[in-house]
Amino acid sequence: MSFPRTRMRRLRRSESLRRMVRETHLSRDDLVLPLFAVEGSGVREPVASMPGVFRFSVDMLVREAKQVSDAGIPAVILFGIPAEKDARGSGADAAGGVVQRAVEAVKAAEPDLCVITDVCLCEYTDHGHCGLIEAGEVANDPSVARLAETAVSHANAGADVVAPSDMMDGRVAAIRTALDAGGFGDVAILSYAAKFASAYYGPFRDAAESTPRFGDRRGYQMDPPNGREALREMELDLEEGADVLMVKPALPYLDLLCEARRRFDVPLAAYHVSGEYAMIVAAAERGWIDGERAMDEALVSIKRAGADWILSYAALDVARRLPR
Ligand code: PBG
Ligand code: ZN
Repeated sequence: MSFPRTRMRRLRRSESLRRMVRETHLSRDDLVLPLFAVEGSGVREPVASMPGVFRFSVDMLVREAKQVSDAGIPAVILFGIPAEKDARGSGADAAGGVVQRAVEAVKAAEPDLCVITDVCLCEYTDHGHCGLIEAGEVANDPSVARLAETAVSHANAGADVVAPSDMMDGRVAAIRTALDAGGFGDVAILSYAAKFASAYYGPFRDAAESTPRFGDRRGYQMDPPNGREALREMELDLEEGADVLMVKPALPYLDLLCEARRRFDVPLAAYHVSGEYAMIVAAAERGWIDGERAMDEALVSIKRAGADWILSYAALDVARRLPR
């Protein structure tokens, strides 16, 4: 019997000892901050269901991007919310569209900041679905063509990485082909590969005004109980040319992140989504938990499970309290 000779508590007795045996360290280098771009100027409007998160007009978003750089965070992921929406999501790939202008402005002001763009149609369609509707359904192949055009427009604006979040089949290959044909062979693809039809996206949809007008996303996003299928999605996206694979949401799916880390030798990303963020902030506002500790614990757990990139709405706060 190992006890009492073995006492695990010996190495937990002081902060110095705990530091010396700490296995995982969250770093600024791990973090990616999501930012929402809206039309107008001088706009910095709070998102009600995500305290601490704002929607910025392009001029204000550039100022926020500077804060991100100054805090030592290497990347942002941009979402655009257009003034007008239509059935085909025309705003998604509009030259001079809100996200395209945001990319241009951020790259001009902060050339070293990595700019990732979310590639999807749901912020731009009047029906709020991630693809085009035909006969009452989200039609895969026509949607893929629009998504590829959208990715190229982001690359053309200067995006370093494009991140398709739509969950259509074959979109990674179509985007790779379109980028290469457009002379954007150096633009990387971060694929939302294992993206689940989750209840945790609620606050995001308030921010992005992207709640579907009819039905839901279960016909394209994954069914939460399915783990093997998630690994298959990741494998397929790798074959199609994804450079980085993402699991989303993060905490409820850490088992998949962990298994993906074991199986795939590519960088992995995890998205600590809006609902995961909002739950912590809401409980902290009520004095029920220590919000900073809970957020740090969530993010370091995501790293421990195997994520290289952690998308978090708290990235700026967290980075500012990390030791320099
Ligand atoms: C767009 C998209 C969504 C999120 C990222 N990209 C919403 C959705 O699929 O409904 C969710 C992000 C979050 O909840 O923080 N497809
Ligand atoms: Zn979408």
